[in-house]
Amino acid sequence: MTQEIFDLSNKTIILTGSAGRLGSNFAEILADAGANLVLIDINEEANKKLEKRITKKFKIKCISSSANITVKNELLELSKVIIKKFGRIDGVVNNAFYNPRTNIEQSAMKFEDYSLDLWNDVVSVNLTGVFLCSQIFGKIMAKQKVGGSIVNISSIYGINGADQRIYGNSKLNSPPSYAATKGAVVNFTKYLAAFWNRKNIRVNTMTLGGVEDKSYMNKKFIKKYSEKTMIGRMAKNNEYNGALLFLLSNASSYMTGGNLILDGGWSSW
Ligand SMILES: NC(=O)c1ccc[n+]([C@@H]2O[C@H](COP(=O)([O-])OP(=O)(O)OC[C@H]3O[C@@H](n4cnc5c(N)ncnc54)[C@H](O)[C@@H]3O)[C@@H](O)[C@H]2O)c1
Repeated sequence: MTQEIFDLSNKTIILTGSAGRLGSNFAEILADAGANLVLIDINEEANKKLEKRITKKFKIKCISSSANITVKNELLELSKVIIKKFGRIDGVVNNAFYNPRTNIEQSAMKFEDYSLDLWNDVVSVNLTGVFLCSQIFGKIMAKQKVGGSIVNISSIYGINGADQRIYGNSKLNSPPSYAATKGAVVNFTKYLAAFWNRKNIRVNTMTLGGVEDKSYMNKKFIKKYSEKTMIGRMAKNNEYNGALLFLLSNASSYMTGGNLILDGGWSSW
C-alpha cells in the first residue's frame, strides 16, 4: 500500500530547471517512483548528461530539452514532441529559476541600486516562465480529463522578508526580484488550483528553505542561517525529494491550492 500511493509508473512528468542542484535530485526520485520524464533546462550539456544517467539507471522513458521557459514557441514545439512520444502529461514541476548572484557585483543587489534589467530578467524566468509552462502543459492536462498535478517551487523568501543581518560579506544577499516572484508564485498557485478545480488538476506550492552548499557559502553565513532554523542547520540537496513525490502522487489526493513549507522551522518562530 505504501508503495502504491507514491507510485508514478507510466505518468509523464515535466520538470523545469532539471540540471540544477535540486532539479537533478528531483529527477532521480521521480524516475525511481516510475515516472517518465521530460527534463527542461537551458544548460543543455548538464541536462543531456542527466538524461543519460537517468536512462541508464532506471527503467523509464526520459527526454531532455534545452527549451527556454520564457519563450512560448519553444514550449509549444516541445509540447508537440511530448505528446508524440508519451501521449499524455500527468505532472509539471515549475522548478527553474534565474539566479543572477553569480553574474553581478554584490553591491548591485542593494534595493536602491537594483537594475530594472535584472528585475525584468528574474520576473521573466521565475514568474512568466511558471505562467507559460502552466498554461501550455496544463492546458493539455485539462483536456485529457484524467487529472494531474502541478507543483510550483517557491522559497522562504517568498513568504517572509530576507533578514539582512545574516549576510555580512557572504555575497549571498537575496535580491528583491526573488522575494517578489517567489511570493507571487504562492498566490498564482491558488488561482490555478481554483481555476482548474473541476478539471481534476491539483496545483500546490512547495516552499523551500536554504540548501547548504560549501562551494559558495562561507562558514559564517551557514552558521547564521542555521541559527534561524529550529532544526539548527540548512537543508541537504535530497531533503525535498519526499515532499515532491508526495505532491505529484496520489498520496496528496486531497491537497490543492496549498503551500507545503519545508524550512526546518525557519518561518515558525
Ligand atoms: N537551493 C536553495 O537553497 C533553494 C532555497 C529555496 C528555494 N529554492 C528553489 O528551488 C528551485 C531550484 O533551485 P536550485 O538551487 O536547484 O537552483 P539552480 O540554480 O541549481 O538550478 C536552476 C536551474 O534552472 C535553469 N534555468 C534557468 N533559467 C532557465 C530558463 N529560462 N529555462 C529553462 N531553464 C532555466 C538553470 O540552468 C539551472 O539549471 C528554485 O525555484 C529555487 O527558487 C532553492
